[in-house]
Amino acid sequence: MQDHVTTHQAEEDARNERILIYLNERIIPKAEAMVSVYDSGFMLGDGVWEGLRLYDGCWAFLDEHLDRLFEAAKAIDLDIGMDRNALVSALLETQKANDMTSDAHARLMVTRGVKSRPFQHPSLSRSGPTVTIIMEHSRPSLPRPIRLATVPHLRGLPMTQDPKLNSHSKLNCILACIAAEKAGADEALMLDLHGFVNTTNACNFFIVRKGAVWTSTGDYCMNGITRQKVIDLCRANDIPVFERNFSLVDTYGADEAFLTGTFGAQTPVASVDGRQIGNGELGPMTQRLRTLYKELVSSECAKRKV
Ligand SMILES: Cc1ncc(COP(=O)(O)O)c(C=O)c1O
Repeated sequence: MQDHVTTHQAEEDARNERILIYLNERIIPKAEAMVSVYDSGFMLGDGVWEGLRLYDGCWAFLDEHLDRLFEAAKAIDLDIGMDRNALVSALLETQKANDMTSDAHARLMVTRGVKSRPFQHPSLSRSGPTVTIIMEHSRPSLPRPIRLATVPHLRGLPMTQDPKLNSHSKLNCILACIAAEKAGADEALMLDLHGFVNTTNACNFFIVRKGAVWTSTGDYCMNGITRQKVIDLCRANDIPVFERNFSLVDTYGADEAFLTGTFGAQTPVASVDGRQIGNGELGPMTQRLRTLYKELVSSECAKRKV
């Protein structure tokens, strides 16, 4: 069995060495796509981003991603300098330049731009913002379900660094991931300040108990678009779904557990803290939700062109 995997593992694809990158209104080869060491994103993690996925010529749930990006930019008082249409055009131009039609993943990043001096104050960011899109050929290829470990790193309160901000500074999540790896797992399961199970360091977390789907209240975790789609799908298909507090005892005893995120859609969980969940394989509810999610992506995409 493979020793260590990541939730964002994709098939090796040599074409990704030759991709073209969008950087501030230019589309340029990967090797030339450089930002300044004075860039606010590099220096301070001062920026926001979205991960988007291309299925059969369609960027799934694009409106929701743009809503979240603009909301985050507003929250950190960052003027993207482009409206929604301009961002969509940049995405489509990058897609066209890379000749991609399906199975691609885009990371759209906006930072506060290049600073005049190497210090924190946002007013020092004089030229910018920096807008970039990395678009890769991407087919998720997870060789086995994910192993999780709980870690000492908690999800913070909204008044410290709101976990709903998809910010470039992800150090809390990265430290959680490192701790999980050191404990022999693939990814971290993070608790909230009260000790309830909340989310993983990079994906939202669900359990299945006696035919019902449970996820956290939504406080302290990323307002994942895939998370919301799974909740909506449960409601539309008469699957009991609860956004509620639950503990590790509930989690260890679950019949299934899975993660959600734009990259992997629904990713099965094999174990948490060395306790096997269910039979440790992809469970029937996770499989059902995967099928429903695929159908949703297809039907949403059939309604629009982009
Ligand atoms: C911490 C965290 N949780 C969950 C998610 C999944 O969100 P989505 O389903 O919108 O991709 C992300 C993705 O950016 C994330 O960074």
